[in-house]
Amino acid sequence: MHFHIITIFPEYFDSPLKVGLLGKAITKGLIRISLHNLRDFTTDPHRVVDDVPYGGGEGMVFKPEPLYRAISYIKEREPEAKVIYLTPQGRLFTQRVAEALSREKSLILICGRYEGIDERIREKFIDEEISIGDYVLFGGEAGALVVIETISRLIPGVIGKSDSVEKESFTSGLLKYPCYTRPREFLGLRVPDVLLSGDHTAIERYRRRESLRLTLERRPELLKEANLTSEDFQILGEFLKKMRIYILLLHYPVYNRQGEIIASAITNLDLHDLARLARTYDLSGVYVIHPDPEQRSLAEDLIRYWTQGRGSKINPLRSEAMKLLLLCKDFDEAIEDLTRREGEPPILVGTDASPKREFIRIKELQVLLWKKPIAIVLGTAWGLTEEFLDRCDYFLEPIWGRIDTYNHLSVRTAGSILIDRLLGVYTIQRKIREFKRS
Ligand SMILES: C[S@@+](CC[C@H](N)C(=O)[O-])C[C@H]1O[C@@H](n2cnc3c(N)ncnc32)[C@H](O)[C@@H]1O
Repeated sequence: MHFHIITIFPEYFDSPLKVGLLGKAITKGLIRISLHNLRDFTTDPHRVVDDVPYGGGEGMVFKPEPLYRAISYIKEREPEAKVIYLTPQGRLFTQRVAEALSREKSLILICGRYEGIDERIREKFIDEEISIGDYVLFGGEAGALVVIETISRLIPGVIGKSDSVEKESFTSGLLKYPCYTRPREFLGLRVPDVLLSGDHTAIERYRRRESLRLTLERRPELLKEANLTSEDFQILGEFLKKMRIYILLLHYPVYNRQGEIIASAITNLDLHDLARLARTYDLSGVYVIHPDPEQRSLAEDLIRYWTQGRGSKINPLRSEAMKLLLLCKDFDEAIEDLTRREGEPPILVGTDASPKREFIRIKELQVLLWKKPIAIVLGTAWGLTEEFLDRCDYFLEPIWGRIDTYNHLSVRTAGSILIDRLLGVYTIQRKIREFKRS
């Protein structure tokens, strides 16, 4: 792999390219680095590479001509070289991107400075724009080093044992398992016994389990792309069972359109849809709360039909879902029952279409999923009362409209969107696709 670096600070790379395995790889010729000082491609006595931006504004911009000459100079010698501009506006650099680029013969890395480079170079001469993260550096040099280090580790011969690369975070699709070394005990902290057992199968199994756990807790989105075995799915299922999430569907106290406090009617659709939602996302239950015994008995009949009656024979899948419905006369009874089931009271999360309180974002709530049971309270009719929201530990960010503030969703839809936002990243169980015989 040949890396060409276009920069106004070639000295920036003096030491990083001399140390460690990268330094050795360059010495061995496995990696070639060519530094090109952009000022060498200027034609004026002051070797100017930048100028003020058209339209005014802060900072300076790299001029197109020196960049054009530098790129052309390299391309004349290595026409297949891929031109990369390091910029915060580029595609996020990941292990997958590095793997793809490591298959190139040579790369030209353009390091910007100041406000960046003239747009016409980006339009005409750049093959790919890469960002190393959502932050802004002084210049592209640090980004170029990140790209060089990551890709170099994938070049055969640079890292002694190839499997040490294969088992690394991201390369395996998962985060790497925890590592320990001597001493066996440090500040009272012991190395896990399995690692001292000499039982390589058990050690491998422990390490895989730890990788799955860490990835699930810290970067669950990676699991969607990872190559997982049925044993992996089983282990992940065990970990996911630790999450205890309930929906509480409140029919009283809620508001009507006039803002009066009412009790709304239980609807068949709400029960079916929230039950299926709960089963799909493996919620622990859906509390259907209504003070009117007649309403509850209507719901009981419906649930019995689907869980014990003819419905359970006609549609066992529906029956499975409907078993997750729990009827209660009021909120306190539901919380009491939930606390008895979980051995601790839940974190109460109120919801509404309007930002009635300071709200918690989905990402913040996801952190709590591993800690305590969570009860997401959905209001029917025109929503939960202020008094009720005062009893909640958190208020969840409403679902906003896309083009204007219209966001009047049915409770079923709102519940589905909120649950998918909260748990969608953990939905990793894929059905095997059955191809229709043509
Ligand atoms: C100060 S930055 C310019 C940032 C630019 N004004 C912007 O807001 O997008 C100067 C140079 O640093 C490099 N750079 C800054 N942040 C980067 C990042 N996250 N990834 C890759 N390169 C970056 C780019 O080469 C950029 O041209």
